Amino acid sequence: MVNQKKIAGEKACEWVEYGMVVGLGTGSTVYYTIEKLGELVQQGLKITGVATSEQTARQAEKLGIPLKSLNDVVEIDITIDGADEVTGAFQGIKGGGGALLREKMVAEASRLNIWVVGEEKLVDSLGNFPLPLEVIPFGWKQIKRSLEKEGIQATLRTQQNKEIYQTNNGNYILDIVNQTFTNPIKWQEKLAQVPGIVEQGLFLNYVDIIICGKADGEIELIKK
Ligand code: A5P
Repeated sequence: MVNQKKIAGEKACEWVEYGMVVGLGTGSTVYYTIEKLGELVQQGLKITGVATSEQTARQAEKLGIPLKSLNDVVEIDITIDGADEVTGAFQGIKGGGGALLREKMVAEASRLNIWVVGEEKLVDSLGNFPLPLEVIPFGWKQIKRSLEKEGIQATLRTQQNKEIYQTNNGNYILDIVNQTFTNPIKWQEKLAQVPGIVEQGLFLNYVDIIICGKADGEIELIKK
């Protein structure tokens, strides 16, 4: 069976050039990108990585990829990341792995954003995947209640051991469920007005190139 994540993840390394500052996303697809970059670094490729999560930083460090924090780079040449859903209009949902805030900050600082996905992530409209909201723990129940008043169902993300999931920034995640986002721009505006929501997982107009690994082993490139 073809590993769609692996073929898409590794393909993205072709865009990485000597000397680049590279944003390193989070998740099980970009994992393969980072592994491959590690190999290339061992063979002499010089890059500086900017990790979007502690998990990614640990992987990169183990592979000998030099890292800098977002604060210590002026600009990022290219960022490679995964996605939970993406449409043909280059709108996506991210944050299934809880790294949405750092991912968006890194994407914003990047000249080129590439997403690596398996074909099941390509959708006609957003919303099959829950939309993550990173929220401040203080008053998170108020946020949930105010969403519910408007008929928006949101669940607090927990870990397998039932403890509350905390992001690398010490915040909680509310996942909006059972909701389609046919007008994601409106949703983005609406959610931006709720105090206590630090970031939401709609990534509209960020991705420039989608690298999609297919079940038959083909790789589809979707460019803006
Ligand atoms: C991390 O918070 C997410 O945005 C990931 O980038 C996204 O969930 C994709 O993950 P997978 O490649 O593991 O599906």
